[in-house]
Amino acid sequence: MKVVFLGATRGMGRALARLMAGRGDTLFLLGRSEADLDKSARDLEVRSGRGTVGHAPCDLEKPETFEAALDAADRGLGGFDTVVVTAGLFARQEDLEADPESTRRLLTVDFANTIVFCEAARRRLLARGGGTLCVFSSVAGERGRRPVVLYGAAKAGLTRYLEGLDHKFHEQGLRVVCVKPGFVRTSMTDGLPAPPFAGEPEPVARRVLRAIDRGRPVVYAPAPWRLVMLVIRTLPRALMRRLRF
Ligand SMILES: NC(=O)c1ccc[n+]([C@@H]2O[C@H](COP(=O)([O-])OP(=O)(O)OC[C@H]3O[C@@H](n4cnc5c(N)ncnc54)[C@H](OP(=O)(O)O)[C@@H]3O)[C@@H](O)[C@H]2O)c1
Repeated sequence: MKVVFLGATRGMGRALARLMAGRGDTLFLLGRSEADLDKSARDLEVRSGRGTVGHAPCDLEKPETFEAALDAADRGLGGFDTVVVTAGLFARQEDLEADPESTRRLLTVDFANTIVFCEAARRRLLARGGGTLCVFSSVAGERGRRPVVLYGAAKAGLTRYLEGLDHKFHEQGLRVVCVKPGFVRTSMTDGLPAPPFAGEPEPVARRVLRAIDRGRPVVYAPAPWRLVMLVIRTLPRALMRRLRF
């Protein structure tokens, strides 16, 4: 695969990019810090043992960077067939409630600008007959819940967009993979209390790569979260209220 990767510098993105490089996929990295991109690219080069890994600036807070970043990826890879987006922001509900600017920023990065980026990517994939668009949403988007009212709303919107995209463009060869991680120990969740079924980035990456290879439209990771969410999706609102969920 020829993969454009937004968010490979840390966490689950780094684990997935390493797996891809290790098995021989060719990667081009996008992100906001030149120094971090360079470090990640060198790491992936060592793991793949083949050629150089290119990179270009792309900041989800700056949609004006998107087309130039994808142009650079196109040139670097000689065309691409897969786009992965693991980049995203998290902030605690209380902190977001106390700061409207952080709320605007999180909604813009996790919802509006992620979709604007995906639109640019899917236009390019469709123009060459299709390909895979794999995007990390969250289980937090499945129900409205007290601890993640705002983050969950952004991810719910992103999940619905990806579902619609899958319906609209599947026949034209677009394979949309919406990843719904449960709690995974990364820099994003540092300092948060880990719930049962908390996972690590590496097994999540293996599960996501299988889903990409099989063109699965939705993947929960770690695996137990599929069942956890099956239950949570059916909880009556009155019970959620009583449980202060
Ligand atoms: N960890 C969890 O429990 C969990 C649960 C559900 C969903 N998710 C979702 O899964 C995805 C990956 O999460 P993670 O835990 O692996 O996160 P992470 O370790 O915090 O890594 C986040 C990545 O996003 C990049 N990023 C952040 N803001 C950006 C921006 N404005 N422009 C471009 N890149 C930006 C970061 O780049 P820098 O290095 O430049 O900061 C980093 O590579 C996210 O979408 C997250 O919302 C995570």
